[in-house]
Amino acid sequence: MKTFQAGTRAFALAALALGGGAWLAASGSRAQESANVFAQSVGEQRYSISLADLMGFIQQRHMRLSLAADAKNWPLVAFEAHLLNQTLASAAVYYSNIPIDYVVAAATPIGKIEAEALAGEGAKVQDLLDQATAACNACHTAAEIAFVKIVRPASSPFANQDFSPAGK
Ligand code: HEC
Repeated sequence: MKTFQAGTRAFALAALALGGGAWLAASGSRAQESANVFAQSVGEQRYSISLADLMGFIQQRHMRLSLAADAKNWPLVAFEAHLLNQTLASAAVYYSNIPIDYVVAAATPIGKIEAEALAGEGAKVQDLLDQATAACNACHTAAEIAFVKIVRPASSPFANQDFSPAGK
C-alpha cells in the first residue's frame, strides 16, 4: 500500500497539545505562557488532519450528495457538491503527493453537478455522480487501496436529516 504522509509536523503538534494540557492544569502563569506558545504555534503551523480523516469527510459528503440527488433536493445538491469539492481541494493542498489528475477527475463531475443543481436542473446529475464515484475508485486503485470501494448509497444512515426539498 502506498502511504501519503503529512510530515512530522502533526506529531510535534499532537505532543504539544497533550503536554501543554497537563502543564496548563499544573500551574498558573507558566500555564498562561504555555497556552500562548501553543496558540502561536497552532496559528503558524495550523492544525494537521490525516488524509484518511479528510477522506472520512469526503465519504460523508459523497453520501449526502447522492442522497440529496435521489431526493431531487437541488439546493442541497449544490451545497454538498461545493463542500465535497472544497474537501477534495484540501486533500490536494495538504497532501501534494496525491496524484492531481485523479483529484481533477473527481472534482470535474462534482463541479458540473453543482452548476446543474444551481440552475435547478437535475437531468445529468445521476450520470455525473456515477462518474465522480468511478473517479474515487480510480484513485484508490492507483493508490493501491482498491479495497476501499465507494458505491452510491442505497439508503440513508443519517437518521437525523430529512433529504427531501424544504417545505415538502
Ligand atoms: C486523488 C486520490 C483520491 C481520490 C480522488 C479519492 N480518494 Fe479516497 N483515499 C485516497 C487515499 C490515498 C486514501 C488512503 C489514505 C490513507 O491511507 O491514509 C483514501 C482513503 C479513503 C477512504 C478510507 C478512509 C478511512 O478512514 O477508512 C474513504 C472512505 C475514501 N477514501 C473515500 C473517497 C471518496 C468517497 C472519494 C470520491 C468522492 C475519494 N475517496 C476520492 C485517495 C483518493
